[in-house]
Amino acid sequence: MTTLSDWLAAQPVDPKLASVVATMATASAEIADVLRLAPISGQTGLAGQTNVQGEAQKALDVISNDIVLNHIRRNPDISILVSEELDEAVHIENQGRFLVATDPLDGSSNLDVNVTVGTIFSVLDATKGLLQPGSAQLAAGYAAYGPATSLVLTFGTSTAVFTLDADGTFQLTLDNMSVAPASAEYAINTARERLWDAATRGYVAENVAGETGPAGKRHNMRWVGSMVADIHRILMRGGIFLYPLDSETTSKGGRLRLLYEANPMALVVEAAGGRSTTGRERILDLVPTGIHQRVPVILGSAEEVARVEAWYAKIPAN
Ligand code: AHG
Ligand code: MN
Ligand code: MN
Repeated sequence: MTTLSDWLAAQPVDPKLASVVATMATASAEIADVLRLAPISGQTGLAGQTNVQGEAQKALDVISNDIVLNHIRRNPDISILVSEELDEAVHIENQGRFLVATDPLDGSSNLDVNVTVGTIFSVLDATKGLLQPGSAQLAAGYAAYGPATSLVLTFGTSTAVFTLDADGTFQLTLDNMSVAPASAEYAINTARERLWDAATRGYVAENVAGETGPAGKRHNMRWVGSMVADIHRILMRGGIFLYPLDSETTSKGGRLRLLYEANPMALVVEAAGGRSTTGRERILDLVPTGIHQRVPVILGSAEEVARVEAWYAKIPAN
């Protein structure tokens, strides 16, 4: 087996950048341990605070954020942390060249029901400021805390999957991942149908119409409600994930956050041959206007994403 350390040492990247990824892996392994025993240790329920986005923080949102922050402080190569759970960027007192943006616990509304949740992260050059497009990411990845803890990493050109073993070491289990170009599985919260725009409506209606409809094949719908879990499924067996702009999210720009949800997931998926878009623009080309900016997210199998883009191209932007 190849351990994460061996694999990182063999990558053609700055060893300091590799150390940032190793730091996030170590933080993820610690979060996995906390999550596994949270119902016994009593680390469940609400933290009693809301974050900058007005969302009620779970105790585990706060604990996961603290774990990431503690590990980051110990790595002299990281000087800035942007987190979903922190209003402002944290400037750490060192000269480190790297910035980490993270969703320390994605899908936390699923914690009480023991469904897969995750940690998402993005690594940028800290000397270039907070608001860089996703195409400037130097590395990105996520941990998915499911029956196994998976760690998915990219430095932008390929995507690898590691599995946490019983000794707390990540072992390489899949390398050079490829998102199937075609798929018949889509993931969207259909309870929001009344709020959808014409493009989303058109695309989903074609899927629902099945083999005799315009898509010409029977589709199936899968929605975990944890982006990490939904996108991990798509990485493993193809499919498309949509959290599009709808009439309720338009005023906020979307539901999911650009810096620490959309961008890292888009880099992982594109490095594995998939596509990512807001419907009208490639996610990785967007220039952020704020660290907690929200965006529409559509990503996965290239052919399915292209079908959604074709729908948006038919409908004028307002
Ligand atoms: P978070 O727990 O970090 O706030 O993110 C939850 C996100 C994402 O995981 C998921 O795809 C989406 O919220 C689900 O949103 P709805 O509850 O609106 O379906
Ligand atoms: Mn999230
Ligand atoms: Mn979160």
